[in-house]
Amino acid sequence: MSKSNLRVAVLGAGAIAGQHFDAIRDTQGFVACAVADIHLEKAEAIAEAYGIRAYTDYQELIRQEKPDVVVIALPHFLHKETAIFAAEHGCHLMLEKPMALSVAECDDIIEAANVANIRILIGHTQHYMAENIQAKMIIESGEIGQIVMIQDVRHVNYFQESRPQWFLEKEKSGGGILANLGTHSIDKIQWLMDSAVRKVSANVSHHGKRGNVEGSGMIYLELDSGIPATIVQSGYPGATRNETEIIGTAGMLKLVTGDSLWISRGGVFEKLEVKPIATPFELQYQDLLVAIENQRESSCPPAYARSVIEALEVVYRSAEMGVEQYL
Ligand SMILES: NC(=O)c1ccc[n+]([C@@H]2O[C@H](COP(=O)([O-])OP(=O)(O)OC[C@H]3O[C@@H](n4cnc5c(N)ncnc54)[C@H](O)[C@@H]3O)[C@@H](O)[C@H]2O)c1
Repeated sequence: MSKSNLRVAVLGAGAIAGQHFDAIRDTQGFVACAVADIHLEKAEAIAEAYGIRAYTDYQELIRQEKPDVVVIALPHFLHKETAIFAAEHGCHLMLEKPMALSVAECDDIIEAANVANIRILIGHTQHYMAENIQAKMIIESGEIGQIVMIQDVRHVNYFQESRPQWFLEKEKSGGGILANLGTHSIDKIQWLMDSAVRKVSANVSHHGKRGNVEGSGMIYLELDSGIPATIVQSGYPGATRNETEIIGTAGMLKLVTGDSLWISRGGVFEKLEVKPIATPFELQYQDLLVAIENQRESSCPPAYARSVIEALEVVYRSAEMGVEQYL
């Protein structure tokens, strides 16, 4: 049982902030102390709900509150600046995915973390979702034989009115559906197979009604282990799906992340009972706590998250050049 009572501040009072605050409240070893958002009313609403202090300036928050842990739940273009500022003030980090806008920015964060000797967990939630964890265990058990391929499909209405504008401006988000949700898919495939992307061929298209980011993409990739995978995503109204198919020599898994897990051994899918565990965000905080208390890397460290950004950069380069690219 943890003896820590680490004070946590969250930067950003947007869509994902509530899940962080719920997990902080429900995870022993952490206590929330403050929130910062440039929109005071958003910060105050969260502050009132969780009984903490509100700031509009994240630097002032960090200087005043001296939190042990800073959660970065901000637009992607602010990840590097805020991560480095917090690290320089000795704060451990729960840094939302994607880690940063580029590999170069990831390297700057990693350097700052090394100098400050702080721990970072990048919020690649896929590692902490119950169906995904069970799928990984089945893959590793050999139950569906040797894995021969993975197909990942995700369609959502990405350009819906409620999506904040920064997601749709490449300079602020790093890209469209592939930067935001494609990084989940790249991560999921790498993590499930414990193997990094080595080769990419991609095609992306831009038909969104807002912003300047891509709205769909098809990616063929190969892992270091030689296993091929496809990622297919679109963000236009109508199409809707979120499935990962893992095909082995003795069966197949259909993983509907956040919903269900299915197995086929003889052609008919059987729904597996997914064992209930803590929420993904609680598991992330438990993981970060162990890393801080034992002064070791979290199980989703920045060096790993950097590999996801590296693969994303190569996806865009392949699409731009029209030829396959190697990492
Ligand atoms: N792990 C997941 O499954 C998951 C899900 C959703 C979002 N995310 C990630 O979480 C992060 C935040 O996403 P979101 O959907 O909450 O975005 P959001 O736009 O809803 O929230 C971002 C907040 O940051 C605030 N902000 C902007 N500039 C600021 C500044 N300089 N100082 C303080 N506050 C500032 C905005 O006012 C906004 O309230 C992103 O990295 C996103 O990719 C992860």
